Amino acid sequence: MPFDSLKKEVVNILNQSDKQLNQRLTNICELLQSQIDYYNWVGFYFAEHSTKTLHLKAFAGEPTDHTVIPFGKGICGQVAESHQNFVVPDVQSQDNYIACSLNVKAEIVVPLFKDGLNIGQIDIDSHTPDPFTAEDERFLEWINENVAKNI
Ligand code: SME
Repeated sequence: MPFDSLKKEVVNILNQSDKQLNQRLTNICELLQSQIDYYNWVGFYFAEHSTKTLHLKAFAGEPTDHTVIPFGKGICGQVAESHQNFVVPDVQSQDNYIACSLNVKAEIVVPLFKDGLNIGQIDIDSHTPDPFTAEDERFLEWINENVAKNI
């Protein structure tokens, strides 16, 4: 499904205000993971600024042990501090990387801002080497902006 069609589906999910936010986020993860062949694991982490940790709130794909990640650790923890997109074409080339599965070849993490504050992130793992383009970055930024409106 192309990104434009997916955006409509994401809006439909976010508008289901009878559902808890975590349920809607899980449905977004499931949509992306099932419709984009190189999105093999999709998750949302949210920051707890008092303890400087990220907490996994919703995901689709294999369960991970890494449900709490300290700021600065791994790709996710680095984005919690840099406030910038992090595209990793080859995870093997990263020293500061937390492996969730040996099948993962590439990763993208895009921060989620609410009122200018970096409150979380969307994280995608791929089994395909170097699959992410600027189009993925714009798409994931759009998703985060729309999620932020519902927080
Ligand atoms: N690989 C991430 C950890 C989270 S898993 O991808 C689900 C990282 O290095 O931060």
